[in-house]
Amino acid sequence: MVFGVILAGGIGSRMGNVEKPKQYLNLGGKPVIIHTVEKFFVNKNFDEVIILCPPSWIGHTKNLVKKYLNNDKKIIVIEGGETRNETIMASVTYIEKKYGVTDDTIIVTHDAVRPFVTHRILEENIQAAREYGACDTVVSAADTIVQRTEEGHMIADIPDRRRMCQGQTPQSFQAAKIRKLYNSLSEEERQTLPDACRICVLKGEPVYLVEGEVFNTKITYPFDLQVMETMIKGDL
Ligand code: CTP
Repeated sequence: MVFGVILAGGIGSRMGNVEKPKQYLNLGGKPVIIHTVEKFFVNKNFDEVIILCPPSWIGHTKNLVKKYLNNDKKIIVIEGGETRNETIMASVTYIEKKYGVTDDTIIVTHDAVRPFVTHRILEENIQAAREYGACDTVVSAADTIVQRTEEGHMIADIPDRRRMCQGQTPQSFQAAKIRKLYNSLSEEERQTLPDACRICVLKGEPVYLVEGEVFNTKITYPFDLQVMETMIKGDL
């Protein structure tokens, strides 16, 4: 089975003082998260779409699903975790309990705040996760990447830009594989791993690269939402 896993468990602290977490803010007439979920909802490859959100936002999220997506049975809303990786693991626990997890269970994990993901990206993720066990979505770095020293004011290194990429989502996995790798991490490793693909890299497991799109951006700061408004209106 193939599951869409919408990561909406964060509170968006870098957005500053906004009235709700960024995934619930309005974009072109509806909440950001609805734009994102719709991409998965209409894609026939997904057996179920799991939305994971903060516990106090579950009721609100269910209401949005009712309002915009006709309360479809293909969409389920559950509680996310303390960290992004814990949120991913909560989806695997849910799948395990409801369906069981086999080698054919694929999870396509995606930031709720990346509404411009394409069907090509989703389909290549599913295929790559089946074939390689794990994949990440990236675009080639446009700017030169400059690495700082620990102290922060000097250059430590300038890696060859031709090999540098910027990570996006989806990141997709065989559910059994990512759970096994996550369970093998020490508590310290768990605290220092913000990115699910880094778990695979740390454990020496291959991660295939799917080509993303420059417009598959994430809302992190208020400016990002302003740019997306312009994109939705077709002015960009
Ligand atoms: N996320 C999640 N569970 C968490 C933390 C984050 O599902 N415990 C999700 C966010 O909701 C978001 C995505 O992961 O859709 C990308 O993370 P990020 O942009 O860092 O979101 P926030 O953690 O909400 O933002 P900030 O870091 O500014 O607080």
